[in-house]
Amino acid sequence: MLSVSNLNAWYGASHVLQDIVLDVNKGEIVCLIGRNGAGKTTTLKSIIGLLDKIRGSIVFKNEELLGQPAHRRFSRGLAYVPEERRIVQGLTVRENLRLGLVASPLKAREAALIDEIAMIFPRLAERLDQEAVTMSGGEQQMLAIARAMIAKPDLIMLDEPSEGIMPVLVDEMFELFRNMKQQGTTILLVEQNVELALDIADRAYVLDQGAVVHHASAQALLADDEIKERYCSV
Ligand SMILES: Nc1ncnc2c1ncn2[C@@H]1O[C@H](COP(=O)(O)OP(=O)(O)O)[C@@H](O)[C@H]1O
Ligand SMILES: [Mg+2]
Repeated sequence: MLSVSNLNAWYGASHVLQDIVLDVNKGEIVCLIGRNGAGKTTTLKSIIGLLDKIRGSIVFKNEELLGQPAHRRFSRGLAYVPEERRIVQGLTVRENLRLGLVASPLKAREAALIDEIAMIFPRLAERLDQEAVTMSGGEQQMLAIARAMIAKPDLIMLDEPSEGIMPVLVDEMFELFRNMKQQGTTILLVEQNVELALDIADRAYVLDQGAVVHHASAQALLADDEIKERYCSV
């Protein structure tokens, strides 16, 4: 579904990604792990199109994404939930969900899609007409995920979704990722919560200083204490 090769990225003169190679197959949960500053967020931002200085190749559903604007990548079925959740102030939960459909060909089915997403996210269903920023951090994160999911993306990229969220909600969120996978959504997940992420992932890439230093099945990596200690402690 997604094939990234020789991806290089720069912030100004600083060369932060070096020849990143990674693949995500349809139906998989693939995890990107690595310390703070390893280049995980930059990798996701490059894939969705938020960085201007990049080189290499990003092929999504047989189409080269490099050079295409972010909105075009979105309408091709790529979704991104950034680290900062970007819940819009002053809007209700329902209005935030509508935003997820603004640029989608599914816009005409908005009412039905909001009902549908509310079944998957019962916490949001109870709060559709509540102002979104009055919800807890975890609930706002659920909203950010729901807003990305409502347009039925083929691949969703999530940047540290469990960060700063109560453990009980984190468990609920990971259960949700399992369900999303079962429904056929492909997931590229960045997580500091390595054990939890590997537990639901199929494969993982380990990043360090802007490069992929290790790639293994999630199961193999879960058992590999040396790699985890070396590259994954915050
Ligand atoms: N906007 C920016 N301008 C300059 N350097 C940045 C910017 N964002 C991130 N960096 C640098 O790029 C590197 C990779 O960062 P990032 O992709 O955010 O890492 P991670 O998500 O793995 O913590 C780090 O050295 C970081 O300091
Ligand atoms: Mg990051």
